Amino acid sequence: MTVNPLAPSWLAHPADANALAPGLWSHGTTRSASGEIEVAGVAVSDLAARFGTPLFVVDEADVRSRAALVRESFDREFARIGSAAKVYYAGKAFLSTEVARWVSEAGLYIDVCSGGELAVALAAGVDPARLGFHGNNKSVAEIERAVACGVGVIVIDSDIEIERVADAAARHSRVQPVRVRLNSGVHAHTHEYLATAREDQKFGIALADAPTAVAAIRSHSSLDFLGLHSHIGSQIFESDGFAEAARRLLALQALLLEGGPVPELNLGGGFGIAYTSAETALPLDEIATTFADIVAGECARLGIPVPVVAIEPGRAIVGPSTLTLYEVGTVKDVLVSGDGTSPVIRRYVSVDGGMSDNIRPALYSADYSVRLAGRSSNAEPALVRIAGKHCESGDIVVRDDYLPGDVRPGDLVAVPATGAYCWSMASNYNYLGRPPVVAVRDGEARVIVRGETEADLLSRDAGILATNGAR
Ligand code: LLP
Repeated sequence: MTVNPLAPSWLAHPADANALAPGLWSHGTTRSASGEIEVAGVAVSDLAARFGTPLFVVDEADVRSRAALVRESFDREFARIGSAAKVYYAGKAFLSTEVARWVSEAGLYIDVCSGGELAVALAAGVDPARLGFHGNNKSVAEIERAVACGVGVIVIDSDIEIERVADAAARHSRVQPVRVRLNSGVHAHTHEYLATAREDQKFGIALADAPTAVAAIRSHSSLDFLGLHSHIGSQIFESDGFAEAARRLLALQALLLEGGPVPELNLGGGFGIAYTSAETALPLDEIATTFADIVAGECARLGIPVPVVAIEPGRAIVGPSTLTLYEVGTVKDVLVSGDGTSPVIRRYVSVDGGMSDNIRPALYSADYSVRLAGRSSNAEPALVRIAGKHCESGDIVVRDDYLPGDVRPGDLVAVPATGAYCWSMASNYNYLGRPPVVAVRDGEARVIVRGETEADLLSRDAGILATNGAR
């Protein structure tokens, strides 16, 4: 075995480059006896033949079971401490009407953060009372629509919004429940762009300003103050950041209780998932126990009642459910350094998608993994870099992983854990159509979001010449 010196230290040379590392793939993903990857009983070659590549393949039962697990765990653990929990699914991770229905059927509420996400949830038939509406700059029209349709809670992000929501609610003769998003000042251990409660960022109201904001909310008869909200960031693995945020918010809660009821506390989402064999997600049921212990302990110390606790994970519910299927187009060995006697070579395997269907490596330096999907092979593993087809050298899908060294054009490869923030952040860069999303369940596959065609892409261009050449 020769080790490529370009391999990062965290990436172990695999004993078997066909093995599907535990924790990275949906529960229903297996390698069949023929060597091919299957999702919920459907072979990837069948999926590619029917729907083309690139393709997002969602294991429906996986989404449903994670949603159910998180809700059951939080229900159980907060009942244990004499309270209750509300689990929201953060729709920004990936929202379609089907996904909205799956999580609703598992008993989750849904958090939306734009008029568009609100429209999808409503189109799915979700009860508006089970929706939360976020955003640091909701337009007046969005607020109006949310209030008019009876959204369960609006999360207020600034002083200006207090008046906007109060006015809209008064106009609709409604009493609108609201939370106040706070910037807890907790520094989450995650990528800078994914940390949302550092001091110097756009979200929320400073802890010190919260009593004034809450007093303003309480002065409006059209508003009903439900409680405080904190989201410290995303892709977080340690519970200490959540614990610190809970302590800071509950201290404030104790103060606010002197002026009126504070029935709920929302501790946000952000639970990390594994993208590579070097990462291990915190189990969702353990997170529930940790949260309940932290909240119970802190409330006892402060001598206040335990509030109903809300959380809003997105990635942990949909991230592991999905793989992206690509077809290999070219394989190129690039001499990175060295010479003919001791060459250091990186193998670039280019696929038919890229940063338009997964911007996360380019935007956050996110790491992903890859496996040969349409077959397995005993060829010696080779370090590869999976590149996309965009005209940009930063267009990398998987920076480092091993594939069998005989990987070749026409092979199907699968990248796991692409269920969150890939399709939802997809673009049309280089006029690539966004790929379809296919849900697989019990051996049956169906499109839940169709892919974009060239006609879709051209349909918005107002300058297209009519057939007679006139404009
Ligand atoms: N609640 C609030 C208020 C949020 O802002 C977010 C994520 C969540 C919940 C859900 O966080 P999750 O459990 O999914 O980590 N595009 C980035 C992630 C941005 C997250 C934005 N807010 C990424 O691709 O990693």
